Amino acid sequence: MADRITLEQEQAEELVKKYGSPLYVYDEGIIRTRCREVRALSSYPGFTPNYSAKANTNIELLKIIKSEGFRVDAMSPGEILAEEAAGFGPEEILFISNSVSVEEMQFAADRGIMISVDSLSQLGQYGRAGLPKKTAFRLNPGIGAGHSAKVITGGRSKFGIEKKQLDGVQEIAARYGLVIAGINQHIGSLFLNSDEYLAAAEVLFETAFEFSALEFIDIGGGFGVPYRGTEGRLDMGALSQKLSQKIDDFTARHPNKNIRVMVEPGRYLVAESGILLGTVHSVKENYGETYVGTDIGFNVLMRPVLYDSWHDILIFTTNQKTQKLTITGNICESGDILARDRDLPLPAVGDIIGIENAGAYGYSMASTYNSRPRPAEVLLSPDGQDRLIRRRESLASLSGGMC
Ligand SMILES: Cc1ncc(COP(=O)(O)O)c(C=O)c1O
Repeated sequence: MADRITLEQEQAEELVKKYGSPLYVYDEGIIRTRCREVRALSSYPGFTPNYSAKANTNIELLKIIKSEGFRVDAMSPGEILAEEAAGFGPEEILFISNSVSVEEMQFAADRGIMISVDSLSQLGQYGRAGLPKKTAFRLNPGIGAGHSAKVITGGRSKFGIEKKQLDGVQEIAARYGLVIAGINQHIGSLFLNSDEYLAAAEVLFETAFEFSALEFIDIGGGFGVPYRGTEGRLDMGALSQKLSQKIDDFTARHPNKNIRVMVEPGRYLVAESGILLGTVHSVKENYGETYVGTDIGFNVLMRPVLYDSWHDILIFTTNQKTQKLTITGNICESGDILARDRDLPLPAVGDIIGIENAGAYGYSMASTYNSRPRPAEVLLSPDGQDRLIRRRESLASLSGGMC
């Protein structure tokens, strides 16, 4: 099976004809393959991978991931509701909160969902609110990794509780009669070399010996995928070998023989399954540059504008000759650029383009900026059938019922 979803020109054109443009299309087989690779990272019986649903919260994708034996994390009540709709039970959801209101904590607690707090300030609020005895906290292990400073969360960042504040955790827990049942961490998003991840795992394992009632630890996600076709993949075989050794050493020494060890990838499970199809609406020369204008603005795919991220681009055309092109969206900002100076075949108005690796942080970061409805999502099953899994938003829904 190919690493990424592949579509022939005819199929791409038919999908756009049937469901409209722009359109997110996902390949179920690729999601299942990635799930199985993550599950194979460790054979420890208490190894429980979580899917970090922020990467893509489509309920049909959540169902596929659940059927592969995953649990989930949640960042908000909205994610909790999507996960419940996909069939996840409270014991399968971890609410990894970050600067949330007590009402949001209560929302999760009322449903029996474990909450991990992100600061001593939030742990105090949790305790004062009389929320369930068992709770968890997010450790900041002082080591970070990721594709952009905006998503490196270990080390100097707003996230988690530093090691030197652990006495504070014990103190607040004792004050309110709380039991620290879990510690999670996440050092950042998208690494293709797992050295930092493994080093940070060590910090978590050591910290875990300071909390006697632990039921789980969660090493976090961040497993990267190659966005450029020329990049190498994250070596999951090598990661598995090193990580499972560390997990085995840790669990052999830890007093709770049933302690669960979790990892929490988002992007890795869904990124390569997705392609974003769009339509070319203009081709123009301006100040020496050739601009290809499409309907894929940063309201539809934000990553290139937000992080300067690279996505490989396919132009579905029979024209073979390439030239330097700048691909833009239709948003009224000059920064609305998907790709600059790419060697690609010149399309004609009406041609379809495909943005690869769009399955993670694509739809989930899409907005209605410029008052454009969010696109539809379609799933391709292993037998090649296509199925609508989220309707395109309607223009009427944008008014929010106010007019
Ligand atoms: C707490 C937490 N866990 C897991 C993830 C998933 O990261 P990724 O999609 O890079 O695996 C994130 C994403 O930022 C996160 O904030």
